[in-house]
Amino acid sequence: MKHLGLICPVCGAALVENGNALCCTGSVKKHNFDISRAGHVNFAGGSYDPNSGDPADMVRARIAFLEKDHYAPLADRVAALVAEMGGICVDAGCGSGYYTEKMSAGADITYGFDLSKTAVEYAAKKAKREQKSCYYGVCSVYTLPVADGAASSVTSVFAPVAEEEFTRVLKKGGRLIIAAAAPDHLSDMKAMLYDTVTENGERGDLPRNMELISRERLTYKPTVEKGDIAALYAMTPYSRRTSRESAERLLSLDKLDITFSFDVFVYAKKEQV
Ligand SMILES: C[S@@+](CC[C@H](N)C(=O)[O-])C[C@H]1O[C@@H](n2cnc3c(N)ncnc32)[C@H](O)[C@@H]1O
Repeated sequence: MKHLGLICPVCGAALVENGNALCCTGSVKKHNFDISRAGHVNFAGGSYDPNSGDPADMVRARIAFLEKDHYAPLADRVAALVAEMGGICVDAGCGSGYYTEKMSAGADITYGFDLSKTAVEYAAKKAKREQKSCYYGVCSVYTLPVADGAASSVTSVFAPVAEEEFTRVLKKGGRLIIAAAAPDHLSDMKAMLYDTVTENGERGDLPRNMELISRERLTYKPTVEKGDIAALYAMTPYSRRTSRESAERLLSLDKLDITFSFDVFVYAKKEQV
């Protein structure tokens, strides 16, 4: 039994694995969710908008960039924090599963959920091929198919923070681990694109009702080669709002020293919630 701690997104009853489907144990009506050949499950149902989540070209760029392990120090740190908790880990907004896969080494079961079907399909195929114990589903981070109190950790890596939903699925004392861009993240790349570089502000969706346990910053400045600069640029929102001239200035470089700077927050679900 691989899929433990999941609930039916329609009626909230427990889901049990039956062959190539997750079947709901509700007493009135049974809802079934096929496990695709790739290995993922679509929990979003008929109302799913294929344009939701990150667009496919952005997902592909992120896959190409992350495969080069430029963000491995961040992935290793988040995975170590997940390993402190063990149990069920939910990676909310998992994208193509780069971080999810590393988390799975220290958790009993790891779920990755994202609205991008392209990203989830890629992640599921890779996990199946490489026999990783992580399972993927298409759904919103605001409506996770996870039972109340089932998760020991929830992670949110550059993805929306749905505090209320994350609190619901976490067990008491469970941890929410958030990775976000620090003020100077990618400042050198932005300096090639814009006349004035504005620092990244603090995210507006950090939890308000959880206990902040720790906050740390991880900063390093490697040399990034031409092809990787292009992938990095294409996976960021800057690629959607930069003039062609500025983009060409960046993309004509053979290499660039780029500041990677991340804030990692750890929150605990309060005992009395
Ligand atoms: C910047 S990407 C980060 C992906 C992944 N965590 C990583 O760092 O490689 C943000 C991800 O959040 C997903 N996303 C955005 N809104 C979402 C929502 N409401 N529910 C689920 N996923 C969402 C996007 O599809 C995208 O994959």
